[in-house]
Amino acid sequence: MAAMHDPEDPTTRAAIEACLDIVRRRGADADPPIGATADAADLDAALRGAITFDGLGVDAAVGLVRDVIDPAVVALDSPRFVALIPAAPTLAAKAFDAVVATMTYSPESWLEAAGAIAAENQVLRLLADAAGLPSGAGGCFTSGGSAANLAGLAVARDRGHGAGSVVLVSSAAHASVARAAHLLGIEVRDVQADDRGRLLGAAVGDALGSTPNVSAVVASAGTTNAGVIDDLDGIADACERHGVWFHVDAAYGGGALLAPSVRPRFHGIERADSIVIDPHKWLFSTLDCGALLYRRPELAVATFRQEASYLELLHADGGWNPSDYAFHLTRRARGLPLWFSLVVHGTSAYVDAIERALALTRSAAEMIRSTPGVTLLNDPDLSVLLFARDGWVEADYLVWARRLLDDGIAFVVPSRWHGEVVGRAVFLHPSTSIELFESILAAMR
Ligand SMILES: Cc1ncc(COP(=O)(O)O)c(C=O)c1O
Repeated sequence: MAAMHDPEDPTTRAAIEACLDIVRRRGADADPPIGATADAADLDAALRGAITFDGLGVDAAVGLVRDVIDPAVVALDSPRFVALIPAAPTLAAKAFDAVVATMTYSPESWLEAAGAIAAENQVLRLLADAAGLPSGAGGCFTSGGSAANLAGLAVARDRGHGAGSVVLVSSAAHASVARAAHLLGIEVRDVQADDRGRLLGAAVGDALGSTPNVSAVVASAGTTNAGVIDDLDGIADACERHGVWFHVDAAYGGGALLAPSVRPRFHGIERADSIVIDPHKWLFSTLDCGALLYRRPELAVATFRQEASYLELLHADGGWNPSDYAFHLTRRARGLPLWFSLVVHGTSAYVDAIERALALTRSAAEMIRSTPGVTLLNDPDLSVLLFARDGWVEADYLVWARRLLDDGIAFVVPSRWHGEVVGRAVFLHPSTSIELFESILAAMR
C-alpha cells in the first residue's frame, strides 16, 4: 500500500497525531492571539523550499504551520476580532468539521450521501422555520453568502424575464449582489436607502413602477456596514404587486432570527422567494458555510441541474440532490458541523449566544454615548456600531486600527458612513467583552 494511504505508516501516523494535537490545543484556547499580517517577501522566503520531491516530514510541516503560517493570520474566531464580519465556530462544530473531512461524504446526490443530506436538510428546515417559510421550502448549503446570492439571483432571472433583466438593489446592499448580477448579465439599479441605510417599501414600489423588466428585488436583513434590516414587509408588498422575485440577503443578520429580542424586526422575511443565511457568520459554524433557501425549490432545478449520461442514475431515485439547488456538483457536507453542534448543545445555547452579542452591542452603544468626544452614528438594529471621534480624519482611524492590532488588543477596520471615515465594531463572538470594547474606545483618546 502506498505510504500516504497506509494508516500503519509511521509518517502518516505522526501526521494524524500532530493534526489532532493542533485541534485539541486550539480548541482549548479561549483567547487565541489576535494574530498579525505579514510581508509577502518574508512569507515567500520562509516558505521557500517547503514542497520538495521527497517531502520534509511531519515535524517540518507542523513547524511551518506553527512558525510561519499561523503567526501571519489574523484570527477570525478570536473574541478580539470585531472587524468586517467575524466568526465564532463552536468547538463542537470545529471538531466535527475535521470529522466531515475525514469521512469524505459527497452530498451532491441523495444516492451517494442520503444520511448527510437528511441531516443538512434538518438544519435548513430549522432555518426555514425561523424565517417562517412554508413547509415546501428548501435549498442547500453553499460556500457562503456570495455564492448563495449568485444562485438565488440566477433562479430569479431564469423564472423571470430572461436576458436583459434588471435587479433592484439597495445602495446599502452587500457588494456580492452587484457582482452576482454582473456575472449573470443582469443590470443593477440602485434604489436609495434612507438616512439610516434602510431600504423602504415605498422607494422600491416607486422604482418598480418606473423600471421595466425587473426580475428581482434584493433586500438586506442586516446590511454589512451598519447591520440595518430593510423594510422587509413593505418591500414584499411592492414585489407582490409587481409579480417580482423577493430575495433577502440575511447572510450576516440571519442568525438573529433565533433571537426573541430582535425577531420582530425581520417581519416580512417569511414572504421571501429566496433567503441567504451564512451559518459561518452568526450561527457559529465553521468556514465555509452559507445556507440558501427557496420558497419553491423546484424552480431552482431548472437552473442548476447538470445533465450527463453518467449522472442519470443520480437523478432517477427522486431523492433530494443538493446539486440541483446551486452551482456545484461535488461538495463538502458544509451543513454537518452546524448540525452536530446543534444536536449536542440544543437551540437554546444558540439563542443565548446570539442574545449575548446583542446585549453587548447595547452596552457598547451606551458606553459610546457617555464617552466625551466620540459620537454614536447609528441606533443598532443588530450588532454593528458606527462611531466617530471628534476631529479625526482617515489617517487617525488607520493609525488607531493598526495600533490595536500591533498591540494584540483587537482587530478593528474603519469604514465609511455618509462619505466620512468612521470607526466600526461588529459583535458576534459570545466571549467578546465590554472591557475589550472599553480598550478599543480608550485607544481613541
Ligand atoms: C449581507 C452580506 N451578504 C453577503 C456576504 C458575503 O458572504 P460571504 O463572505 O460568505 O461570501 C456578506 C459578507 O459579509 C454579507 O455581510
